[in-house]
This record gives sequence, structure tokens and C-alpha cells, in this order.
Amino acid sequence: MKNTILNTLKSSSDYISGEEISRRIGISRAAVWKHIKKLRAEGYDIESVTNKGYKLINDGILSEDAAKALLTTEFIGRALHIMNVCDSTNEEAKRHFADADGSLFVSEVQTGGKGRLGRSWASERSIGIWMTLLLKPELPPQDVPQITLIAGIAVCRALGGSAMIKWPNDVVIGSKKVCGILTEMSAEMDRVNYVVCGIGINVNTKHFDDELAEKATSLYIETGTTYQREPIIAAVMNEFEPLYKEFLKNGFSGVYEEYKSVCTTLGKTVRVISRGTELIGTAIDISPEGGLIVDTGKEHITITSGEVSVRGMYGYI
Ligand code: BTN
Repeated sequence: MKNTILNTLKSSSDYISGEEISRRIGISRAAVWKHIKKLRAEGYDIESVTNKGYKLINDGILSEDAAKALLTTEFIGRALHIMNVCDSTNEEAKRHFADADGSLFVSEVQTGGKGRLGRSWASERSIGIWMTLLLKPELPPQDVPQITLIAGIAVCRALGGSAMIKWPNDVVIGSKKVCGILTEMSAEMDRVNYVVCGIGINVNTKHFDDELAEKATSLYIETGTTYQREPIIAAVMNEFEPLYKEFLKNGFSGVYEEYKSVCTTLGKTVRVISRGTELIGTAIDISPEGGLIVDTGKEHITITSGEVSVRGMYGYI
């Protein structure tokens, strides 16, 4: 009910009276007032003027309708849930694991945004895109990490221009990260129950603090432009769906060449820390499964997980 009121406010460009809202939704004016109070407590800035009614002050709050209107997909992102706040959209998607394949969970702010390797992910209010896709692929569990690579390609396509991928799935502009992807799954030995693919894009961040400044960037920092987030959300979904369908049909080979063409790690010196050991070499290729092939001078090693530093990126010199 609260969300219905929120959507009513979002779709009204002018003030809308409590009476009109109660008539449209079929609840009492007292109930409308109660929900407005709840929405305000959640942080929505709702102005009320005597004899005019209520108006949502749009300070760049994501609109479900605006995002949906731009979707060209069949099922990816079609069930769209935009939240004002949540712990982590990955956790929210997991709580809704019974929802439809392709459901998308987006939050204005995350109080416990999660990054790879147990790190946290800075997810400040309304300046980025913090979203998670719930997927139910018929795949062996070992193929699931490839979904992350596909999501990376989709983000690169959606952002266009100079966005590239630092293996396996950081989307970078130049030498800094603009997007991180965290895929988690629930699986049995031989079958996947569900996958949550979380995508964080730094959109309108004006600056990053000391430690992050060396590694992170945003679309605003790169271009000096403030972006509407709905078109970017829709573009990522629109790009993801055909890639994902191709992947489910033909495996990673269907997207392999494109992945290689946007992988900026290739040809660079890398330092890999994996399972407690460190190696340094040149990234020479991507394996058919999406691993990073590193030439150490003595042998070629295929890296499938771990922390890869690329010389010239994120402050590694
Ligand atoms: C990384 O470490 O690069 C992965 C970062 C992933 C961040 C996104 S934001 C949306 C989703 N919810 C989370 O808690 N994490 C992912």
C-alpha cells in the first residue's frame, strides 16, 4: 500500500490531494496520512500544502516507471523492485529467491554493501546504481562465475566509450574502477538453485576519499556530467539479456571474443595472489572458460580466482 502511494506521488507532476489519493487507491484519508508519515520516516521528501495536497520533491529519486519504460527485455529486469534503503541488494534478492527469474532489486542506498573477497562496497545514497539480478539458470555450478563476465560485458556495452574490463569483472575507465560485480549462488553439487548477480556502478560520485581516490572513479568524475540513473539501469538490462541468452544456449564461447576485446588486462604485467602464493607475469590470453592465462616466463598458468593486480592500474606501479 505504501508503495502504491509512493508510485502515485511519483507519477503526479503536481500536488495531489489526500482525498484524490484515497479515492484512487480505495483507502481512507487517515490511512493515506499514516503511509505518508512512514514514507517521510524512510527519507522521502514529501511536501504538503494546505488545500493543494502532497508532492514528492524529486531530488533524483529513482523512478520505477521511468526505468521500466526504457526496458526492451523479455524477462530481465521486468519485475523491478526499487527500494529506498536496504542492507545489500544481493541479500534482498536472496530473501526473494522464490521470485521470478530476472527480477531486479535496486536500492537508493545500501547500509551493508558487499564487495568481492569479503570487502565492503561504498554505496552512498542516490549517487550510484546498486542493483542485483535474481537468475535461475539451468547450469552446472562451475559455470556460474561466467555470468559475472557476461554482466561485465553488458556494463561495458551500456556505458560505451572507454569502459573496459579488468579481469575478471571490474569495469574500469582508464586505470580506475567504475563498476564492481559480485555474483553469489545457492547450489547443490550438480545444480544451481539460484544466482544473485550484484552490480554497483559509481554514477554521480563527486569525489572519493584518499584511499579510494587512487582506485575508483565515477561517470561524473570522468565526464563532468550528472547522469539520470534509470537509462543506465535499463541499458545494462537491455544489453545483459541477449548476452545471457546466448551464453545459456552456446556457453561462454558465444561471448568469448567480445570479452577478450574489452579485457584491458591482456598484454599487461600482472601480480596474482591466489591461495596464499604470489606470481608475477604477463597476462597473455583468456581461457575458453574465462580464466586468465599468465605467462610467468617459465610456464603458462591459468588463473581462475584470486586477487589480480595489473601494472598501471589502481595505483600498482
Ligand atoms: C567488487 O568488489 O568489485 C564487487 C562490488 C559489488 C557491489 C554491488 S552493489 C549492488 C550489489 N549489492 C552488494 O552488496 N554488492 C553488489
